[in-house]
Amino acid sequence: MRVLVTGGCGFIGSNFIRHLFRTRGDSVSVVNLDKLTYAANPANLADVDRRGNYRFLKGDIADPAAVAAAMDGCTHVVNFAAETHVDRSLLGDASFIETDVRGVFVLLEEAKRRGVVQFIQISTDEVYGTIAEGSFTEASALNPRNPYAASKAGGDRLAFSYWASYGMPVVVTRASNNYGPYQYPEKLIPLFVTNAIDDQPLPLYGDGRNVRDWLFVEDHAAAIDFLLEAGQPGETYNVAGGNEAENILITRQVLSALGKPESLIRFVDDRPGHDRRYSLDASKLARLGWSPRTPIEAGLRQTVDWYRAHESWWRPIKEKDGAYREFYRTQYEQRLATSSTSAKEPG
Ligand code: NAD
Ligand code: DAU
Repeated sequence: MRVLVTGGCGFIGSNFIRHLFRTRGDSVSVVNLDKLTYAANPANLADVDRRGNYRFLKGDIADPAAVAAAMDGCTHVVNFAAETHVDRSLLGDASFIETDVRGVFVLLEEAKRRGVVQFIQISTDEVYGTIAEGSFTEASALNPRNPYAASKAGGDRLAFSYWASYGMPVVVTRASNNYGPYQYPEKLIPLFVTNAIDDQPLPLYGDGRNVRDWLFVEDHAAAIDFLLEAGQPGETYNVAGGNEAENILITRQVLSALGKPESLIRFVDDRPGHDRRYSLDASKLARLGWSPRTPIEAGLRQTVDWYRAHESWWRPIKEKDGAYREFYRTQYEQRLATSSTSAKEPG
């Protein structure tokens, strides 16, 4: 099995590659194609870098020549590469369309030309939109409500169309919110953990009662590994953590794990169009034979411990990276100036 993993220097991709080598050893070889955007860190894979069965290529999934070179000899493709942060998509960044839609098209065209054994498109639960009660199944209608989610829905259905139109062996996965080691400190959990370590305010959007279902990244990696063999062509699989919680609860758990006071919480103006609740029915994947293992308490403890032990990983981003600091200023300066210690109106 020779797997092209795209976006392998990011959060989930790097955890997935490490997982593959841990579980499959020398029976798998991996080509990692990554553009090295702001969200990437090649050091995430320092421990596998010298393996003979691992190869890193810097390149863009929207570049046909880079994709053709990377896919050469590959039997499987797992496409993690994407622009992934909802708040950045709300700032009008065209790279969401370029990577999450056009990049998927370029990968699919090359995979069709070569006749790969399997193509896994990593989609997201955000494509379903928000749900007040109950849970989305794979048959639920798609209703993406922010530019990131909409671009991912484009990539998701484009991938499916290569199965429906050409019989290409495509599998689509839709996972819930991941957390764990190596997550860039712009997403809720790593941002709040690292801010709390430094006694900085934790900017909670709106009333803090939006619900997400938290999936430990190692569980997500295991699910994709499982689907490399068990995934059926043309099928879509929800991958849920089974840990639904309001953001305020996760925030309190982070503070408690670090022994920090709840007075660090600041309610700030809400994210525009903020989806209230995500919830997945994951029974299809369970029937196939896979379920998550990590309860939120254990996963959060591991995550907090990892950020505490790896300050050299995140401090350079937060303290020295000008682009990160500019994003933080744009996203939070005004919000924090008008923040409150009690809930704000949901947006
Ligand atoms: P991330 O932002 O941490 O990493 C994305 C990686 O993709 C980076 O290494 C980046 O350099 C690379 N990349 C971006 N554009 C590229 C391009 N044009 N060509 C090649 N490489 C490119 O993302 P993540 O959180 O690890 O998410 C990985 C995938 O999982 C994404 O497709 C995302 O939509 C999906 N997903 C994420 C979550 C989550 O909670 N993080 C949940 C469900 C699904
Ligand atoms: O659900 C899967 C999706 O999860 C993935 O497809 C995305 O790539 C990933 O970024 C994530 O999207 P979210 O928008 O749910 O994640 P984020 O960590 O940005 O926010 C989680 C919740 O926390 C959400 O309700 C918004 C809230 N939040 C987030 C940030 C960054 C805050 O209250 N304050 C913040 O500063």
